[in-house]
Amino acid sequence: MEVEKAIMGRRSIRDYETKPIPEEALAKILKAGAMAPSAMDAQPCRFIVIENRQKILEIAEKVKQKLGVLGMGARLAERAKIKPDVIFYGAPLLILIVAEKGDWSETDCNLAAQNMMLRAYDLGLGSCYIGFMKKTIRDDRETLRELGIKDNQELYCPLIFGYPKKWPEPKDRVENIQKRIK
Ligand SMILES: Cc1cc2nc3c(=O)[nH]c(=O)nc-3n(C[C@H](O)[C@H](O)[C@H](O)COP(=O)(O)O)c2cc1C
Repeated sequence: MEVEKAIMGRRSIRDYETKPIPEEALAKILKAGAMAPSAMDAQPCRFIVIENRQKILEIAEKVKQKLGVLGMGARLAERAKIKPDVIFYGAPLLILIVAEKGDWSETDCNLAAQNMMLRAYDLGLGSCYIGFMKKTIRDDRETLRELGIKDNQELYCPLIFGYPKKWPEPKDRVENIQKRIK
């Protein structure tokens, strides 16, 4: 697929088939993440790959609980009445991009994340960045440890992947050139 087509067509997907992701597709997504640029070529990004739906649902429960504590749960609770998995949307794959703390680690992980989401789209897979998980779990060392994240690492990008039940239409963006200096 042409890069332009992937950039213009990718959307955040919020409803997934249960069908698992083939091993080759997973390998290609991970490789796309690894190929992203990184400051001083430090290559700090590491991937925690979670394909166990039970585990994904357990994490979703923690996220929901913590969002409730943060006062952000009311809208989700409302949505949960019609859609059971309001955090990970039934996705069969959750990839956490983690890295040791560093000046550029978060930027490096974000770049890896975008590569992975675009490559997923190229492979016919949907994706979504799950900021709710980052916000609620990033300081919960016990949960991070359970997930295999080391104490000197941070959780930067939680991403879900899977086959979409349907593809939303491409979405336009606001006009964002603020100034041109010629
Ligand atoms: C940092 C970040 C955090 C996000 N967190 C969530 C989230 O927790 N749940 C969700 O459904 N979508 C989340 N999204 C997806 C955005 O809502 C989505 O990218 C935006 O609405 C634009 O839509 P599009 O990705 O389909 O173009 C997040 C996106 C980013 C970049």
